[in-house]
Amino acid sequence: MQINKTKANITESDLDTIRSVIPQYYTPKRLAHTLSVERECAALAKIYDFSEQDTMRLRAAALLHDITKKMSGAEQLAYCTEHNIAFTDEETHIPKILHSRTGAHFARKLFPGLVDDGIYEAIYYHTTAKPAMEPLTALLYLADYIEPERDFEDCVKLRSQFYALLEEKDKYDALSEALVVSFGYTLSSLLCERSLVHVDIVAARNYYLLQINKDKK
Ligand SMILES: [Fe+2]
Ligand SMILES: [Fe+2]
Repeated sequence: MQINKTKANITESDLDTIRSVIPQYYTPKRLAHTLSVERECAALAKIYDFSEQDTMRLRAAALLHDITKKMSGAEQLAYCTEHNIAFTDEETHIPKILHSRTGAHFARKLFPGLVDDGIYEAIYYHTTAKPAMEPLTALLYLADYIEPERDFEDCVKLRSQFYALLEEKDKYDALSEALVVSFGYTLSSLLCERSLVHVDIVAARNYYLLQINKDKK
């Protein structure tokens, strides 16, 4: 798969093209979620002073982030094997994670000129996050969690917590804090269900928790 290190210049008409292609890959509910993530990303990009170019890149990442969500666990694994996408033994037992890996690859296959490395990475880490995320990756992760179509209790709670944090803190501190809260919610529910925990979530939580504590010293 070709590497695309240069930031893509994505236009409104490119976003229209993406929007016209994606419905076949989404259930109606997932499409509504995806369009809502795009709107949330547009709002967050404004708050975080993204350039026009980065705003368009974030919106494109939002539209494409769940593009392989319809695939079963077995299909995800077969896709990874066919396209040399690395996965660990542990990940074979967490098929939910794999749609972010396959999604990044499939999105680039669909739109090779638009999915640059930053967009690829944002899609790749949208389920687990990771330490020291680029703003594009962190905001897609957050938007996916808090977009207003989500009615899961933790998502609704985190949305209001994040916007309250923005009122009282520097916006990057608010982001780190919201990320830590989100990882806490995710970990709690995984532990309650006795589910496996992906190492990237733990590493991301530790990184952002240390960031917050460093700022307090
Ligand atoms: Fe997802
Ligand atoms: Fe999503």
